[in-house]
Amino acid sequence: MAETNRPDDEVREARPTAYEVHPNVLQRWSPRAFDEREVPEELLFGLFEAARYAPSANNEQPWRYVLARTKEDREAFYEFINEGNRSWCERAPALALLAAKKTSTRNGNPMRTYAFDAGASWATLALEATNKGLVTHAMGGFDAAKAKEALGFTDDYEPMIVIAIGYRGDPAVLTEGQREREKPSPRKPLSEIVHEGKFTGE
Ligand SMILES: Cc1cc2nc3c(=O)[nH]c(=O)nc-3n(C[C@H](O)[C@H](O)[C@H](O)COP(=O)(O)O)c2cc1C
Repeated sequence: MAETNRPDDEVREARPTAYEVHPNVLQRWSPRAFDEREVPEELLFGLFEAARYAPSANNEQPWRYVLARTKEDREAFYEFINEGNRSWCERAPALALLAAKKTSTRNGNPMRTYAFDAGASWATLALEATNKGLVTHAMGGFDAAKAKEALGFTDDYEPMIVIAIGYRGDPAVLTEGQREREKPSPRKPLSEIVHEGKFTGE
């Protein structure tokens, strides 16, 4: 796998672009085969530093992360992660649950964008992981109510995703079905997602 700055061949093939894009944007994808090797603290916490600098409405920074890297902490996470995700994420050396704080506008109305802001933080973290030669895989497939209770969040917080973090591993460890999906995915064409002046899509 390319460490940084040059997408590897499978990425170049699966993710063509008509316009130039930073290679690490294309290189970031979500594998399920993790190597069990631990991520050094320097690298791991560098991801959260990146996540910290994401933009948010009113600079509220509504993202909160609970990190699980000891065996005990990871096992507590497995209790609320769906079976399908557990089957591969148990090999990831670190898991992080991202919860969004339900913030308020200056008038005291609920802020519409708290989840969106948390998403910006996750995307920043994922890109920084690619910059550091690490891989990430977000999971929405977990029991949010159970996670909230297990990790001590009040109703002011909404669990969003669990992120598996680590090094890419050998796809041989996966089930056949998982192995077939173990590749960079394609994207919709630019013409479907960008509209000039007015939305002309379906
Ligand atoms: C909010 C969110 C929830 C996701 N939930 C899951 C999940 O529960 N299980 C899983 O295997 N992948 C999950 N994914 C990964 C997506 O399927 C993946 O990001 C998407 O197919 C695009 O592929 P790529 O990340 O490899 O570019 C999730 C991604 C996001 C952003």
